[in-house]
Amino acid sequence: MQPIRIGILGVGTVGGGTVKLLQTNAAEIARRLGREVVITRAASRNLERAQRVCGSDIMLSTEVADVVTSADVDVVVELIGGTTVAKDAVVAAISNGKHVVTANKKLLAEHGNEIFALAEQNNVMVMFEAAVAGGIPIIKALREGLAANQIESIAGIINGTSNFILTEMREHGSAFADVLKQAQELGYAEADPTFDIEGHDAAHKLSIMSALAFGTPLNFHHCYLEGISRLESQDIRYAEELGYRIKLLGITRKTAAGIELRVHPTLIPEVRLLANVNGVMNAVQVQADMVGETLYYGPGAGAAPTASAVVADIIDTGRLMGANAGNRVPYLAFQPTQVQDLPV
Ligand code: HSE
Repeated sequence: MQPIRIGILGVGTVGGGTVKLLQTNAAEIARRLGREVVITRAASRNLERAQRVCGSDIMLSTEVADVVTSADVDVVVELIGGTTVAKDAVVAAISNGKHVVTANKKLLAEHGNEIFALAEQNNVMVMFEAAVAGGIPIIKALREGLAANQIESIAGIINGTSNFILTEMREHGSAFADVLKQAQELGYAEADPTFDIEGHDAAHKLSIMSALAFGTPLNFHHCYLEGISRLESQDIRYAEELGYRIKLLGITRKTAAGIELRVHPTLIPEVRLLANVNGVMNAVQVQADMVGETLYYGPGAGAAPTASAVVADIIDTGRLMGANAGNRVPYLAFQPTQVQDLPV
C-alpha cells in the first residue's frame, strides 16, 4: 500500500516531538496501520532549526503554501498555534482536499464551527486529540469510549502550566513568577502565558470537550473565566489547613437551562483523586448516565505526550481515509452544519 504522506506546519516543541516520534516508532506504526507514514514536507519560520530536526529527507520551506497545496501531502499536521497563519493554513489545506490533524485548541475553540463545516463540505477529516489534555486520549474517550452514554458533566484539570504552578507553590512555597518561568523553560506554557494563568487555555479545551459531549456547537465565548493569577501562597495554605487543595478546574454540565461552561480555581477535598493530580499532569472526570464516573489521567503538556496524541490522530486518519461517505465526520459527535446553538 502507498504510504500516508504528511506535511508538517511548525517544527517547534510539538512539531519536533512529532518528527522524532514518527522516526522512533516507524515500524510499530506501520505494523498497526498496515502502511507507512512518511513526512514529505515541513514548513517552519526557522529553517536552520527545522533542518536539524527533520534531516535531509524532508522537503523544507518557510512557506505554508508549499505544504498545504502540495500534491505529495495527504495529511496536513498544523502545529503552528494561534489563529492567524494557522487558520489560513487549515482553511487552505481543507480547501485543497487535505485531511488535517491539529493540536490547536485556540483555533478550534474560536473557529471550529466554521472549520468543521468546511471540512464536511470538502469531505475531509479534522482530527484534534492533541488539542485537549496533551497525551490523554480524552477526545477518543468522549467520542468513542463513551458513545453509548448521555454525558452529564465533565470536570478537568486541563492546563498543565497552572497545575504545575499551584503544585510548586503548595509543595515548595515557590513564588508564582519563578514557577511560571520554569514552566516556560520546560515548554509547557503557551507562547503568551497569560492564556495559561488566566484560564483561556483551559476554556479553549473545555469548549471542545463540551461540544463533543453534548453535541452542541463550540461555545467558547460563553465560558465563565477566572484564572489563578490572583491566588497567593496563603490562599493555598489556608485551603490546606481546612483539608482542601486549590485546583484550576474546567467544568461543563448539562442543566435545565442549557450547557454551563466555567473555568475557575476550585477547592477540592484533599481525599479526592482530582485533588492529588500534581505538576504538569492533567485529569478529566466524566459523569455519564450508564457507566457512571470515569477518570482519565496523564501528562497534559510537553513534546512527547502531545506528539503521542498527534500521531494517534495521523494513524486514525490513515485508518479512516477512503471510508464511505457516511463516515466522513467520524471525528465529531455532531454534524457541524446541523447543530443549533443551545442556551448557555
Ligand atoms: N500550555 C498548555 C498547558 C499546553 O500548560 O496545559 C498544553 O495544551
